[in-house]
Formats: sequence, C-alpha cells, structure tokens
Amino acid sequence: MPYASDAYAAFCAQAEQRGHLRRLNARLDHSARLLDFSHNDYLGFAHHPQLIHAAQRAAQRYGVGATGSRLLSGDSLLAHALERRIARSKQAPRALVFSSGYTLNTGVIAALLDRRVLKDEPAVFCDRLVHASFYHAFATAGVHPQRYHHNDLDHLASLLAASQARKCTRFIFTESVFGMDGDCAPIDELRSLARRYDALLYIDEAHATGLHGPEGSGLASGVVQDGGIAMGTFSKALGGSGAYLACNEGIASFLLQRCGSLIYSTAAAPATLASALTAWRLLPHYGNVRRATLERATQLRAQLRELGFDVGKSTTHILPLIFSNLERALTVHAHLAEHGIRTSLIRPPTVPPNAIRLRLAISANHDDSAIAALVSALRAFQ
Ligand SMILES: Cc1ncc(COP(=O)(O)O)c(C=O)c1O
Repeated sequence: MPYASDAYAAFCAQAEQRGHLRRLNARLDHSARLLDFSHNDYLGFAHHPQLIHAAQRAAQRYGVGATGSRLLSGDSLLAHALERRIARSKQAPRALVFSSGYTLNTGVIAALLDRRVLKDEPAVFCDRLVHASFYHAFATAGVHPQRYHHNDLDHLASLLAASQARKCTRFIFTESVFGMDGDCAPIDELRSLARRYDALLYIDEAHATGLHGPEGSGLASGVVQDGGIAMGTFSKALGGSGAYLACNEGIASFLLQRCGSLIYSTAAAPATLASALTAWRLLPHYGNVRRATLERATQLRAQLRELGFDVGKSTTHILPLIFSNLERALTVHAHLAEHGIRTSLIRPPTVPPNAIRLRLAISANHDDSAIAALVSALRAFQ
C-alpha cells in the first residue's frame, strides 16, 4: 500500500470522529413510498413524459454520446437550437451550453480570471456563501477572493472602494437564489455597484432557473445586458443535467479560445440537450405551477416558524432548518426518515459548523398532503 493511503485513511478517520464523514447513500427505488424533500427536481421534470420522449428520440437518432468536445466532433444542431432558445429568453446576445454546472463554473471562471490575459492581478469579490465550484475556480486561477458578508452591499461597496487604490480589473460573483439558504441576491443593487466600479458581475442562477423570473428564465437577464454573465443549470428545476451561460458575443468568443472545460471535455450527450430544449420550451406554460409551488413554500415557511424552527432568511422554494449543533440535526433527520420523509443533511464544510441544516426543497410534486405530513412529523420537536 503506498504511503499516501495512510494520509487519506487518517483524514477520513478524523472526519468520522467529527461526525462530518460523507458517504454515498443510494436513493431508494423510485417505487418506494418515500416523501422526498431532498432533491432539486423543483418542477418534477425528471420524470416528465415529454422530456423522456425527447431524450429517447435524440439517443436513437444521434447516439448516446456527443463523441467529442464541441470544438472537435461534439458540436450539434441541438446544442445550437438550445443556445438560441436560452439566449432569447434571457434576452442575451449569446448562450453557450456545457455538460454540467460544476464544469461550467470551474472552467469559465478560471478562464475569465487568467492573469496572462487580463495583464493584471484581478480584484475578485464574492458573496461568502457562493457554491464550492467558485472557490475551486479561484484556486485554479491562483486568485484570493475578497469574500463579502452574505448579501451585504455596504461591505461589498467598501471593499470595492478600497480596491480603487490600484488600477485593475474587478469581478463580483454571487448566486441569484442561494442554494443552501433559499434567499435572493439584491441583483439591481449589485448591478449598480458593478457599473459604478466597472466590475464584471457574474451570477449563478442554478436554483433560480425554471422557477424564478420571467417564464422561469431566472432573475439576472439585466446583468447580461450590462455586459455581465448569468449561468444556470439544467440539473435542478429542468430535471436533467448540463448547464448554460448567457453573455455577450465577445465573452463567448473568448471562452471558445480559453475555457478548458469547453475545449477539453466531451460535449453534453444528445439526450441531455434534447430534454433541456424540451424543458425550456415547456417553461412558459408553467406559470401556474411556479406560482403554486412558491405559494406552498411560503405557507410551509410560516408553519415551520410557528413550530419554532430557524429557517434563516429563506424567501424561496428552498427552506433550511438550521441547527447550532450536529446532534440535534441528526435527531431531526433520523426522526423524519422514520416517518418516511427524506431530507438532505448538510454538514460543514459546505455550511458553517454552527449552521448545520436540513435542506428542504419544495417541488411542484409536493401537494398539500405532503406538506401536512412533513409539518406533522416535525411537531414532535415543537
Ligand atoms: C449554485 C450552484 N452552482 C452550480 C452547481 C453545479 O451544478 P451541476 O450539478 O449541474 O454540476 C450547483 C450544484 O449543486 C449549485 O448549487
């Protein structure tokens, strides 16, 4: 056994001791009667017959894989049709699709921050609660971000003002709907700050896409009109996998030259693109479903607060039940599981040690009886 294995074993033993060891946990068979609040399939599209049909047809017609990166054999008319559709609904000059949100963020952000291209050391500001993929990209680019307090515009403004002491490019990174907290970034104010300080604003719409904004297209289309970037995924409300970026032509052209995850990775499979295109075409017809889902989340939030739970600053379909210690979170998690209710237990380092949470995501498939069952099980902790 190589020596390195001892270090990995010691690392895992330590994580286990702290109660933070991550394990894979295969989902039960879909036929099992389990009430599931842990997934990101916010519109129930993962099993939508039209999406399944589109994926099947695409696989039959074009095969199961793209067979190469987009710059070699893997580009397709499907990808172009999807990009045109997304660009239209985001009111963006251009969209680009990728095989996952993680590879999009890590590849695109690292390319944007490349010092050899910028010819300076960029000043990077990010909301401290952004997704891990941002931090992985900053590390790849060798950049130390200045993390502003969550959604705190005064803090961000003071950091931006301080950065004016030197001439440099500036970037602001945030999510529009925060995936672990369920609150929203103040996009208009961020746009003003970005304009004032000549910063490129980059917004991750992974958890907004499909459910928020005009026809579910997200909250940040104005950002693109200002010259910024909005990305989102097909892996949450659209029920599949893959991701998109909306931007101007200049940025898209640059990414085709420099973005590693676009250039050196096999393109998204035809079935993935076809189901995403079908999902995007369905979105305008889901206004009532979106409204009902968000309304149900609002009612649940009020009920959870009445029961004495801390749901943080959530205003969307994502509701965290926040606990100051792991034991309590484990107890509630296990109790819900005993009642056939599945939730995600989110531990450090994904969230701070004093804000361990059960993440509840409300989907269009959760009817009143599902919400009532959840509330009833949680009454045990009132
Ligand atoms: C905010 C955010 N961005 C990006 C991603 C990555 O997306 P994907 O799962 O498509 O790789 C996630 C996934 O959890 C996310 O929550």
